[in-house]
Amino acid sequence: MPDTVFSGRFYYKQKFQELYVGVTDGKISEITKSNTGAKIIYLPYAVLPSGIDIHVHFRDPGETSKEDFKSGSISAIYGGTTTVFDMPNNLVPVSDYDVFENKLNAVSTRSFCDFGLYSLYNGKNKDVIDKRSSGLKVYLGGSTNALPIGEMDKVAKEHLANWEKPVLFHSEDSACLKSNTRLEKNCRDHNLARPVECEEAGVKSAISFAARKGIIGHLSHSSPLDSNYKVEVTPHHLLLNDDKITDQWGKVNPPLRDRATQEQLLGNYLSGKYQILSSDHGPHTEEDKADFQHAASGIIGVETRIPLMLNLVKNKILNLDILLSTAVITPGETFDIGKGQIEIGYSADFMCVDFSNVSRLNQEKLHSKVTISPFNGFDVIFPSHVVISGNVAIDQYELVEERFGKFVQAGDQGKKTET
Ligand code: DOR
Ligand code: ZN
Repeated sequence: MPDTVFSGRFYYKQKFQELYVGVTDGKISEITKSNTGAKIIYLPYAVLPSGIDIHVHFRDPGETSKEDFKSGSISAIYGGTTTVFDMPNNLVPVSDYDVFENKLNAVSTRSFCDFGLYSLYNGKNKDVIDKRSSGLKVYLGGSTNALPIGEMDKVAKEHLANWEKPVLFHSEDSACLKSNTRLEKNCRDHNLARPVECEEAGVKSAISFAARKGIIGHLSHSSPLDSNYKVEVTPHHLLLNDDKITDQWGKVNPPLRDRATQEQLLGNYLSGKYQILSSDHGPHTEEDKADFQHAASGIIGVETRIPLMLNLVKNKILNLDILLSTAVITPGETFDIGKGQIEIGYSADFMCVDFSNVSRLNQEKLHSKVTISPFNGFDVIFPSHVVISGNVAIDQYELVEERFGKFVQAGDQGKKTET
């Protein structure tokens, strides 16, 4: 008999059905139409698999005044995301096993959601990358705490091409970025300083590395790509542009683009052309963001990624299957963690959504350390309940104080999940 049975209107096999979903040891063990008699938890609204965000910067350890794994993971859960993959551009970049081990030990005691960790590939560190890394990050152009990778020799390129896990590229070309220095006073200037052409050049070289599981990170323009890489997009590049948001809280790399480019990117996403939706949650303090020219780049988003999109689903702008495929299913499959689907054997990770409960985003109510968001005032739908491995983590919009987060090992369908 399962440990717990959840009952409710589950989105199962692409339609909503009244079901009983049994959970044993955190995994879905049965899906039935009738009650099997175990302890039942009723979920009162639409039940969907909860989010997987493969691109967040929680800054822990090293820059915990910006965010830490506690505040970042609590934000994730409130926003319906139960698994995150954290980037390696910590103050001490994660490029060898000692730093990885130190980070894993530190954040394991703080995370409320499940998580994996990237390592940074710098072209010279293949032999010291920790085997537990979920994937590799490659910066073709520089960004926060990250120098560009520079010229890679033949051996380094071969390593990258043979890597078995996902490789996510920050695809802005460093030489192109260097040739575009200008004084920046607003998001339009930032867009011109790091123009689409630099991203196009970066995407081209990312594709030329022929990684087995390549991902073009945060694409911000709509030029067609000819590649088997997956393409990641973010809510900020889909919904914001350099005309709508002008101040430093909209400064991000790659930059917000002009309205026409943004609308094309959104149109492509809505028609199913991109595979992954991530937040690129990039928190900074008010001091870091003091004036435009010197402001750090990055926008918070782990808590708003799914709520913004659920509102688009409600308004029939976005198809629910495209949202689930990009924000949940494909991210789970890409990292092979046995998560992201309501199916037997998968982790029991759900979010329950009352589509009639639309609210205006009030940034003061977000759970990041610094809550200023360019989405303030946007319509959003937050989940009423969130379940992680069969444990209720959000109950009627409130966090349950118990911590359920654990490290998930990418590969092997998450069978090596550690506690
Ligand atoms: O805008 C950005 N912020 N782009 C990045 O590549 C890094 C990120 C950060 O870490 O804040
Ligand atoms: Zn990023």
